Amino acid sequence: MITGASSGIGMAFARKLAASHDLLLVARREDRLDQLGAELSADFGAGVSVLSADLTNEEELAIVEARIANLDHLELLVNNAGFGTKGSFWEADIDGQEQMHRLHVMATVRLTHAALGKMVKRNAGGIINVAYVSAFLRVSGNASYAATKSWMTSFTEGLYLELKSSRSAVRVQALCPGFTYSEFHDVMHVDRDSLAPPLLWTKAEFVVDESLRCLARGNCM
Ligand SMILES: NC(=O)c1ccc[n+]([C@@H]2O[C@H](COP(=O)([O-])OP(=O)(O)OC[C@H]3O[C@@H](n4cnc5c(N)ncnc54)[C@H](OP(=O)(O)O)[C@@H]3O)[C@@H](O)[C@H]2O)c1
Repeated sequence: MITGASSGIGMAFARKLAASHDLLLVARREDRLDQLGAELSADFGAGVSVLSADLTNEEELAIVEARIANLDHLELLVNNAGFGTKGSFWEADIDGQEQMHRLHVMATVRLTHAALGKMVKRNAGGIINVAYVSAFLRVSGNASYAATKSWMTSFTEGLYLELKSSRSAVRVQALCPGFTYSEFHDVMHVDRDSLAPPLLWTKAEFVVDESLRCLARGNCM
């Protein structure tokens, strides 16, 4: 199951995993998910279900959570849906700041909780939480983003320690990419060239390949 599968890194996860997995794709843009699902079914014969949901909305989040709770053999949950804002916190629209916390923090808490109990019982499965390299930085102009991504990393490390002390085979990963080509900066209305030279930008496919390689290996720094 991949959240934020309608573009960017989430879509790259879907394309990569479709060769070997059935998929449940979540995002708000249902038309995009349907189109991707049809493409992946045709190309790989994957069984693809789509679930349109705004994960900042309590009721819609509860539907996704219930869907996870009904899956007996969820192999991988990718908490990937996310967005950024620009400008100082005190000048930003407070609704956008709250939605960011709902999406990066509360949706991750709720979906991870719905998935992890069953994974631990089966002693199998994995969860990838897509954070950001800014999880390790304190940046001006993106205070909530860096804070919520730091939270994702810290939360994932805590889960890792709990799973390790229980000798569980379930794997968790905080994925911390740098600048990645996707719709992320278009949504923010930020010019990519103003952020970093092309040399520092990565393709979403590379991020996904590294993530899955490290998850399979059990570690990577
Ligand atoms: N691009 C970067 O430089 C970069 C680097 C490191 C980490 N990241 C992280 O990578 C993740 C994926 O971002 P991306 O770069 O692939 O950007 P993207 O192309 O803009 O994709 C973001 C995805 O999140 C979904 N989404 C946004 N708000 C949502 C909501 N309220 N409910 C459900 N889904 C929602 C979007 O789908 P809908 O609009 O259809 O809902 C979209 O599928 C994010 O968590 C981001 O913080 C990005």
